[in-house]
Amino acid sequence: MIKVSSREMVEVRMKINGQVYEERVEPRKLLSDFLREDCGLTGTHVGCEHGVCGACTVLVNGSAVRSCLMFAVQADGKEIMTVEGLAKNGQPHPLQEAFSQCHALQCGFCTPGILMSAVELLSTDSDLTTDEIKEMLSGHLCRCTGYKGIIEAIEKVANRQKEGEKTDGSGVTV
Ligand code: FES
Ligand code: FES
Repeated sequence: MIKVSSREMVEVRMKINGQVYEERVEPRKLLSDFLREDCGLTGTHVGCEHGVCGACTVLVNGSAVRSCLMFAVQADGKEIMTVEGLAKNGQPHPLQEAFSQCHALQCGFCTPGILMSAVELLSTDSDLTTDEIKEMLSGHLCRCTGYKGIIEAIEKVANRQKEGEKTDGSGVTV
């Protein structure tokens, strides 16, 4: 069995928002800290560091994960998407647009995590209900908005996705 001291550096390689990152990190380094400190991707916010607030949520191989509960070494070889990966060619993601239109944020601290969970939800459920959105949001703490605008924004994109499927089958790209 190989013993790794907590101070020994370990090489990690992962694709983040389509770009390959290779760094040497301490085995105890959290994925959230790796993203923010080593990759400069500070859009991923860190609130509680205990898996409670959801602010640090990112996608790991397409699944929403709390990056404060995962070590960077556990993400070795995986594909990560952070909030910085949502906008394409200078165009905001449909969810980002909807959040803006529905006034779904105030301070914005919780927003990146909620966006990433919503992206996962929309990609796995083509017939999203308000209750399912509320259930997802039960894992995210927002101290400002009261959630109404957030629910409306996600519903708006879910409805457009359903409409798209009805009319031309293309849906909304999430
Ligand atoms: S910072 Fe990760 S859940 Fe709160
Ligand atoms: S907008 Fe401030 S915590 Fe959600």
